[in-house]
Amino acid sequence: MKTKFYATTPIYYVNGAPHIGHAYTSIAADVMARFKRLDGYDVRFLTGTDEHGQKVEKAAHDAGVDPQTFTDQISADFKAMADAMGVSYDDYIRTTEPRHKASTAELWKRIEASGDIYLGHYEGWYAVRDEAFHDESELTRRPDGSFVAPSGAPVEWVREPSYFFRLSAFQDRLLKLYNNQPEFIAPSSRRSEVISFVKGGLRDLSISRTTFNWGIPVPDAPGHVMYVWLDALNNYLTACGFPDETGPLWRYWPADVHFVGKDIIRFHAVYWPAFLMAAGLSLPRRVSSNGWWLMDGEKMSKSLGNVVEPRKLAEIFGLDQLRYFLLREKPFGADGSLSHAAIISRINVDLANDLGNLSQRLLSLIARNRGGVLPARGPWTEDDTGLLTAADALPDLVRANMDRQTFHEGLEEIWKVIRAANGYIDRQAPWALNKTDKTRMGAVLRVLADTLRVVATLLQPVMPGSMARMLDQLGVPPDARDFAALTTPLADEITLPPPQGVFPRYVEPAA
Ligand code: MSP
Repeated sequence: MKTKFYATTPIYYVNGAPHIGHAYTSIAADVMARFKRLDGYDVRFLTGTDEHGQKVEKAAHDAGVDPQTFTDQISADFKAMADAMGVSYDDYIRTTEPRHKASTAELWKRIEASGDIYLGHYEGWYAVRDEAFHDESELTRRPDGSFVAPSGAPVEWVREPSYFFRLSAFQDRLLKLYNNQPEFIAPSSRRSEVISFVKGGLRDLSISRTTFNWGIPVPDAPGHVMYVWLDALNNYLTACGFPDETGPLWRYWPADVHFVGKDIIRFHAVYWPAFLMAAGLSLPRRVSSNGWWLMDGEKMSKSLGNVVEPRKLAEIFGLDQLRYFLLREKPFGADGSLSHAAIISRINVDLANDLGNLSQRLLSLIARNRGGVLPARGPWTEDDTGLLTAADALPDLVRANMDRQTFHEGLEEIWKVIRAANGYIDRQAPWALNKTDKTRMGAVLRVLADTLRVVATLLQPVMPGSMARMLDQLGVPPDARDFAALTTPLADEITLPPPQGVFPRYVEPAA
């Protein structure tokens, strides 16, 4: 039986249209899910939308639409965006679905049964934009006397009856978790941040609201709806069939990795494990957080009018090109700047020059000088085995980087081999060997074909469409494209389809 692997994206607030930041977390999670599938795992990959709470209710109200109709529309748009980005989710969850309401009511009851919920009164600051309670010490005073949250979100004073979760009782257990499971929070800079936050002492958390009603009702407590983060976090359990622990999906819990943005690490690495501990459920293995994309160095925001529509970028540059750029351009956990110039440079240098030229040169030489027939392997020289050994070492190197979500380093390992292959083809000059030593030319072309096969197989998770075309051209049968198949050499003397360019240079359209 295959080992299971459960990966999740954050579920997105449906208060506005999807943008590149949302697409980014989902694409990174998708790369991980596709990689694990090709690596022989039984993968469950979840995404969806976060539809309750004051922020969404307010957005619906501002649009003059009832919240359900509003969330139906925007959730459908997020789904269309995921599809357009090639996000290969197995389940698309919406928190307004009956399965989620039932599951979340049950989670509440379990936490309550543990004695970790009590009724009280909340009085303090709340940032609707973050859907987060803030301690006054975290706020900054603006010149006009108003306060803002660390994210810059405005806060308002809230005073209402509320149920509380006894978060303060979980400090030791959480610190033990971070200590025993050092890989629980990534990258390590975030881990240190969370540890010092928890060491600073935890206050009990308000987990119900009474001043609006767009949420999941608290069981047996009229007037209270659940705090939207308790509701939202539970989506990960709902999608495993919770509370049905005998159902077919339960085997996927706990999550192997929750992908989240750095702004929501606290909810996932502090509140979520504490809720699960209280409910007696097992804990996720890892919360991996991504940094932010800035637009030409500036934060994206609706008010600045610089929000990037991912579908538009994919249309201009190509979907695979965009996916590659997003994963290659910056370390996953760090912030980075997005600009058309940076995308074009990745397309023209990495994709067109390095990878595109390599495959084009190889495949056209096989077409022209070998009648399109893939040459047999060997005999090998030292230069040949040097390149082949580097290619053989790649799957393990890339796997290790995938498991740490150091996507850009995994890609750099692949590019080292691509650059080595370009150096090799220049040194060996198979076009000259065509006149002097056809047998040797065949051996050289085969070394390159075997190398490119490894490269294209490993790049499938990042660029599924282009790599499928490249593997077609290399004569790799569709059922031999997983990583296990790499240990079996391609059959000799197969006839390859006519070569076609996979990565054209990007040329700026004439104004
Ligand atoms: N609904 C919550 C998540 C609940 S998960 C149980 C939420 N939604 S969100 O729509 O506001 O943001 C979702 C994700 O998008 C976050 O992880 C956030 O970091 C990410 N991004 C939003 N803007 C971003 C960038 N500009 N760059 C990169 N990612 C950013 O939070």
